[in-house]
Amino acid sequence: MATPDKITTIDDLKKLAKRRVPRMFFDYADSGALTEDTYRANERDFEQIKLRQRVAVNIANRSTATKMIGQDVAMPLAIAPTGSAGLQHADGEILAAQACAEFGVPYTLSTLSICSLEDVAAASSRPIWFQLYVMKDREFSKRLIARAKAAKCSALVLTLDLQIMAQRHKDVRNGLSAPPKINLNTMTQFATKPLWCLKMLGTKNRQFGNIHGHVENVSDLSSLSAWIGEQFDEQLNWDDIAWIKEQWGGPLILKGIMDPEDAKMALKVGADAMIVSNHGGRQLDGTESSIAALPKVLDAVRGDSEIHLDGGVRTGIDILRARAMGAQGVYVGRPYLYGLGAMGKKGVTKALQIFHKELDITMALCGENNIENIGRHNLIDPNPRL
Ligand code: FNR
Repeated sequence: MATPDKITTIDDLKKLAKRRVPRMFFDYADSGALTEDTYRANERDFEQIKLRQRVAVNIANRSTATKMIGQDVAMPLAIAPTGSAGLQHADGEILAAQACAEFGVPYTLSTLSICSLEDVAAASSRPIWFQLYVMKDREFSKRLIARAKAAKCSALVLTLDLQIMAQRHKDVRNGLSAPPKINLNTMTQFATKPLWCLKMLGTKNRQFGNIHGHVENVSDLSSLSAWIGEQFDEQLNWDDIAWIKEQWGGPLILKGIMDPEDAKMALKVGADAMIVSNHGGRQLDGTESSIAALPKVLDAVRGDSEIHLDGGVRTGIDILRARAMGAQGVYVGRPYLYGLGAMGKKGVTKALQIFHKELDITMALCGENNIENIGRHNLIDPNPRL
């Protein structure tokens, strides 16, 4: 078991988080939908992409800096929106956004965050990105967009693959609910993590901060979570997406595009970028990995929109692989949650440092000194079978 001073990989952070976070919340982050096949495929398929080792190239001056939707990033990585991140560590979203701002990468705040978007934006020295779930209550969505604008969020990430919530078996078994049910199983999960409990008791951020106080008759945690549960919109369609774009007026990133036909529709509504994503294997189990879907989406958009990817990125090698395959940048969800659960802000910084170091070393050993030059020529098989 890696102690905090010996952590060198994302997996070390995962192991430490498992020790420090109550089981129901660790498993909530760590699980995928149903059989978890797609969740596993996301990670596994990256390993099939082999890189060309090159030697005797001057690699003394290297840079991983680039842009995502025209905004400067220290490396082609952003933090993916993750609901309830503030349950991995007290004030989690605030701490993570600060770590990202200091490192120079975007932090995307979920609609279902624990800390409110105003609190997170105010604590971060870099504009955050805001992720929107379209709720049936369109007035609420409209108000949320206005709040994101007022908080100077510099991109809106609109998630399209959660019109209904898939089932994650571990959450059911662990009794995950808001508020948690009190029984022997759940009491034990909390009693074995006293530090986590102490920190959580010491913060005011224990509700869904973007919703609490912003919807009528929804005040305590049970009515909040019941409201959220009934608000995902099964009737969402492309006209609604065009309406959101109009309301927002800024850079719009569409998340959950796996199919070339959807990519073409996303182009039609004027997406500035799209994220090839299967929600980290948490929604449609049985679909392919996001890295396997990437080439088809790239072919469909033919350079008319920036293409990002998430799902299964666990190393800097994976960042380089995704970039070589044609993604402008990647997002990571679970890796930063492990960091947060393991060591709060320090853990998120550690995760970013690990990704950066691994990316820099990999790039150098591919004989490249600038991330902008990475492409299919860095792959042994430019069209790997995934
Ligand atoms: C998510 N994801 C997610 N996506 C989104 O658009 N809004 C959300 O609120 C959430 N919530 C959420 C919670 C947790 C615990 C996880 C793990 C994921 C999906 C997320 O943005 C992203 O697509 C995946 O996490 C990417 O896969 P990796 O990096 O976790 O493998």
